Amino acid sequence: MSSRNLVVAFGGVSPEHEVSVLTAMQVIASLKETNYNIIPLYISKSGRWLTGDKLLEMENYQDLDELKKQATHCTFSHDDLGKPVLLETEKKGFFNSAESYPIYTLIPAFHGSEGENGSFQGTCEMYNVPYAGSGVFASSLGMDKIKAKDICRAHDIPVVEGYDFFESEWVKDQQSILKFAEQLGYPVILKPVNLGSSIGVSRAEHEDELIEAVETAFRYDENLMVEKAISPLIEINCSVLGTAHNLQTSVCERPLGQEETLSFEDKYQSDNGSQKGMASADREIPADISDDLTHKIQSLSERIFKLFRASGIARLDFLVNGDTEELYFNEINTIPGSFSFYLWEESGMNMRELMLKLIDIATKQHQKKVGRIRSYDTNLLNEKAVKGIKGLKGAQQESSDK
Ligand SMILES: Nc1ncnc2c1ncn2[C@@H]1O[C@H](COP(=O)(O)OP(=O)(O)O)[C@@H](O)[C@H]1O
Ligand SMILES: [Mg+2]
Repeated sequence: MSSRNLVVAFGGVSPEHEVSVLTAMQVIASLKETNYNIIPLYISKSGRWLTGDKLLEMENYQDLDELKKQATHCTFSHDDLGKPVLLETEKKGFFNSAESYPIYTLIPAFHGSEGENGSFQGTCEMYNVPYAGSGVFASSLGMDKIKAKDICRAHDIPVVEGYDFFESEWVKDQQSILKFAEQLGYPVILKPVNLGSSIGVSRAEHEDELIEAVETAFRYDENLMVEKAISPLIEINCSVLGTAHNLQTSVCERPLGQEETLSFEDKYQSDNGSQKGMASADREIPADISDDLTHKIQSLSERIFKLFRASGIARLDFLVNGDTEELYFNEINTIPGSFSFYLWEESGMNMRELMLKLIDIATKQHQKKVGRIRSYDTNLLNEKAVKGIKGLKGAQQESSDK
């Protein structure tokens, strides 16, 4: 039997483009010794879909312009039976037709923007491509930090007090927005609603700092949020793997930064500037916290994973007040950096096993979905119905004649 094509999709028009490349390279390396034939689907910073063997090697990403020249354009399509394929449009096959590869399953390894917010997942749905991880709903909810918190509030899951605003509101009435911050009480945290990796996140001790932070963050997102800063802060993350019907939680981790607020550099460049993705960040695993707090975090993680209809894998991030142990849900990452594999190693699962598990969940869920009736064989555009429409046309004509 020829090996099955596993597409790993990454890159994308996102400030977290490079982080996604790092995660994808880890995924590809972990699956090298398996029976899958790995096909890269790299979305360039300008949004062009590319494929080709050169995209499988990390060192080729040092010169992105050169790499793009060596890759070929591709897109999703269907074969004659309606099965999804990756179509390499610039490469001609035997009959001078574009080369196409049947897709067994796809792993989205994007971070941020359309790759993680449900848009890419929706494209997969349209082409009937089985894909790993959360679907459209959980992905888009996970990307919107404000809406995610609204849902948690509605279900009595504790979240930090805060508010959000749009650029147009800021331009119109900056004073009211600043007044809200005053009411919350400084220091506050300012962050883009739809971004990750700490990009655009700042801590403001007073109003001037907040104004400066707002101006910077609007470069990334038109929707910003302000939250009361938790201090002293302990951050705890926990990963969930599975589906709503069968899931497990990982050990907890405590990411450690240079400053109280974790920066992009803390997350990805802490290892003397080398870039190995989330796996290289400084962290304590398992987190040195009480058993009681660990269990609380694990059971909340499960609850939120189900509540958001997440699937496959996610990492749930919490904020804890170091003095009082008060716990707050902060965010859900539906495509966590490095797929949180380092958290599952503690449960005896290496990255390859984790990826195989994700592929297995994805294909089973897809089979379940296609097993359901999705369209009817009857043609409503038969003679009778068309006659009805003709009648309607007449009526419209009549009314417009009036
Ligand atoms: N309410 C808060 N109080 C204190 N620190 C915060 C708060 N919210 C976020 N932070 C800090 O900012 C970092 C990034 O914020 P987060 O909400 O996790 O966004 P991102 O998606 O960019 O990771 C967190 O890891 C934490 O260090
Ligand atoms: Mg975060």
